[in-house]
Amino acid sequence: MASIRNLVLLTGAGLSAESGLATFRGPGGLWEGHRVEDVCTPEALARDPALVHRFYDLRRAALDNVAPNAAHEALARLDASWPGELLIVTQNVDDLHERAGARRLLHMHGELRSALCAACGTRNRHEGALPPASPCPACGAAALRPDIVFFGEMPYGMDRIEAALAEADLFVSIGTSGAVYPAAGFVQMAAHFGAATLELNLERSAGSHWFEESRLGPATQLVPQCVDGLLAQG
Ligand code: OAD
Repeated sequence: MASIRNLVLLTGAGLSAESGLATFRGPGGLWEGHRVEDVCTPEALARDPALVHRFYDLRRAALDNVAPNAAHEALARLDASWPGELLIVTQNVDDLHERAGARRLLHMHGELRSALCAACGTRNRHEGALPPASPCPACGAAALRPDIVFFGEMPYGMDRIEAALAEADLFVSIGTSGAVYPAAGFVQMAAHFGAATLELNLERSAGSHWFEESRLGPATQLVPQCVDGLLAQG
């Protein structure tokens, strides 16, 4: 621990589960009743924009009824206090990291409270429902869509993420199934560049064998413990 200076923390749906937001896979997962290809691809958006927009409208509305949990709060505390480089890379499209106070944060799969203009590429803060063909405040085109990275699209911030992984001394993966690339491959990239690798998850994931250490349990217990350990090293 003493030689750890640069951190990359990857978070997934399991981090927000104890705030009351359903995960994607497993019992109660978000895809139940909705095939992923019906709501999370460019083809689905072109075929049935009303369904796709409605799906994300409901998820955006659900944010009003949830709050950050002890795991989000611990990561925000780490962000505020950690003297070295730190990047929280989240696959989550909720805003619970920032509501807990995290600053060094990258939403690689987009954000529910953002709208993307399919015509000019501008990203705009957005609250409330987003009907199909809403006008873009920047260019006026009737082309706003949910600012979500669909399957087959390039995640945000890959250059910044890869640079942070190359410099990382420790890579921590929290509450993610390791089922979706490129995020699922970050552990191998970090290890390739010499980082120690740690997984914190409720159960063993598809990528557990890539990690030097896996700690199993709920994020609200494991993450504060891990953060306390990291901050105690200084
Ligand atoms: P998943 O739903 O695939 O995985 C969630 C993981 O969290 C599972 O391994 C659970 O065991 C674990 N988990 C559940 N509750 C937990 C808890 N209380 N504490 C710790 N771990 C817990 O979610 P992601 O891996 O985030 O993409 O899914 C990756 C991407 O798939 C998402 O970002 C989404 C989806 O397609 C987009 O929206 C673009």
